[in-house]
Amino acid sequence: MGIVIEVKDLRKTFKTHKREAGFGNAVKSLFKREYVITDALKGISFTIEEGEVVGFIGPNGAGKSTTIKALSGILYPSGGEVNVLGFIPWKDRISYVSNIGVVFGQKSQLWWDLPALDSFYLNKFIYKIPEREFKERLSFLLKYLSLEELAKKPVRDLSLGERMKCQLVAALLHRPRLVFLDEPSIGLDAISKNLFRDFIIAENKKYGTTFIITTHDMQEIERLCKRVIIINNGLIVYDGDLATIKKKFLNKKLVDVILEEKGKRFSFPGAKLLETEDYRFRVELDTEKASVKSLVNHILKSYDVEDINIADPDIEEIIRKIYGGRT
Ligand SMILES: Nc1ncnc2c1ncn2[C@@H]1O[C@H](COP(=O)(O)OP(=O)(O)O)[C@@H](O)[C@H]1O
Ligand SMILES: [Mg+2]
Repeated sequence: MGIVIEVKDLRKTFKTHKREAGFGNAVKSLFKREYVITDALKGISFTIEEGEVVGFIGPNGAGKSTTIKALSGILYPSGGEVNVLGFIPWKDRISYVSNIGVVFGQKSQLWWDLPALDSFYLNKFIYKIPEREFKERLSFLLKYLSLEELAKKPVRDLSLGERMKCQLVAALLHRPRLVFLDEPSIGLDAISKNLFRDFIIAENKKYGTTFIITTHDMQEIERLCKRVIIINNGLIVYDGDLATIKKKFLNKKLVDVILEEKGKRFSFPGAKLLETEDYRFRVELDTEKASVKSLVNHILKSYDVEDINIADPDIEEIIRKIYGGRT
């Protein structure tokens, strides 16, 4: 298994025309052009090996989509080098695309007024997929994602989640070696999310397909990715094992408790009360100071509890900490 993606000092600067609202300003801006410069990528470098499933995470505006766009060849970078499967994506576009699959969760690549099935047939043509292989792969994918009937309806009549599933089919039909998924689980319900994750794991095992995924869903990352690349403000702030950052930064749990009785006080060593209302409270537990089990035991013993929920802090929080330089 060799290196499939090599990125060196990748940069992207967007120059957008600044215009104030209003007609007068529109006229003025015809004469005096002002620009806003955004350094979306400030020089990022990484390599990815064949068969890896890598999570690309970071807050909104960090540069994740810009990276995916440069890697999939739809964006021309301002500087740096990218080599994917021996191609320079934005240069060798036509020969390159048959090797990759791309899903942009925010933007559908399917024909809006046509049934998804038509888009799939178009892909068969574009990627020159042999008839038998296409039929087999298509029926497998449609069945797996329960899309047999839905794929016959115009895409515009589908729900967000259904469209996403169709997009996934379109991206994977030609069995690409490399798949880029930019926020692929937007709009998916819990069942579809699971299906989708299992599917990625299965494809990766069976064909050694490499996946690059951006998502805000920490559970998704945990389930799928051994390695994560964290990007913030156009720079990579962490590249490595997920287990390591988890150990380092995920030493907190959020515990929400709903009570059947009113107005009880809370205190427990190692836990900090974040919010409190008559019938509920939320605490943050430092798992290095006390275990989840001991806290839950304490809560169950001390209160009349209706419900308890234990969750990881969200990804934004972890990233903020990493970026804040706490080690
Ligand atoms: N086409 C564009 N024109 C101008 N600015 C852009 C464009 N695309 C992205 N940006 C800016 O570049 C930065 C990175 O955006 P993006 O890669 O989409 O972030 P992310 O996917 O991590 O949320 C943001 O500040 C965004 O506003
Ligand atoms: Mg994005």
